[in-house]
Amino acid sequence: MTQMDDLTRIRREYQSEPLLETALYPSPMAQFSCWFSEYQQLDPDNVTAMVLATASAGGSPSARIVLLKHYDAEGFCWYSDYRSHKGQVLALNPQAELLFYWPVLDRQIRISGEVQRLDRASAEHYFSERPRGSQLSAAASCQSQRLAGREQLVQQVEAVAQQYRQQSIPCPEQWGGYRLRPLRYEFWQGRENRLHDRLVYSLEDADWIISRLSP
Ligand SMILES: Cc1cc2nc3c(=O)[nH]c(=O)nc-3n(C[C@H](O)[C@H](O)[C@H](O)COP(=O)(O)O)c2cc1C
Repeated sequence: MTQMDDLTRIRREYQSEPLLETALYPSPMAQFSCWFSEYQQLDPDNVTAMVLATASAGGSPSARIVLLKHYDAEGFCWYSDYRSHKGQVLALNPQAELLFYWPVLDRQIRISGEVQRLDRASAEHYFSERPRGSQLSAAASCQSQRLAGREQLVQQVEAVAQQYRQQSIPCPEQWGGYRLRPLRYEFWQGRENRLHDRLVYSLEDADWIISRLSP
């Protein structure tokens, strides 16, 4: 039996409650907030994990998980190293998509829009609240750059720890936040026999227009 045969036999049904136009909030952020709260009750450790998908200026895609740190009327925020691969591609092409997959409720949310850096004060404030171990790692690691080996990373951490012995670790210059300002949301609810619900909010002339897509 080949590996492909094995995988085709993995099947699951989606039998959740329907997602109907009549039950949607007019604002997609309110709809997001409602689903976020529901999932937070069930799986608080994973509710903030989201895939961030980007594309280089030449069109090469890349995707990785980052953690949502706050969201409000302005958009969805996370923190990272501006020197990382994502940092480099976002500097040249600020369009991105965020994706939340909430399997316990058979839900997926996709949010696309433009990404901007948060200001320095936000980075400093959030950095100061992180545990010292995370601060050390962020200060010592030049994210996405090649290492000679794990030992090099450990030495870099030790060097930063020595440098700031008995002192607080300052927020690194190249570390900070991003905000994605949404232009489109898609709320996906898994349904029986793969007849899933897909409801999209798109921003047209400053209004959110709701439409349903084929699954
Ligand atoms: C659960 C989880 C949470 C993560 N959270 C973050 C995060 O908040 N910020 C971040 O820069 N990387 C985070 N990462 C690491 C990224 O997925 C990725 O490895 C890193 O950002 C480098 O990506 P890049 O080379 O595409 O820039 C997380 C990874 C996982 C699996």
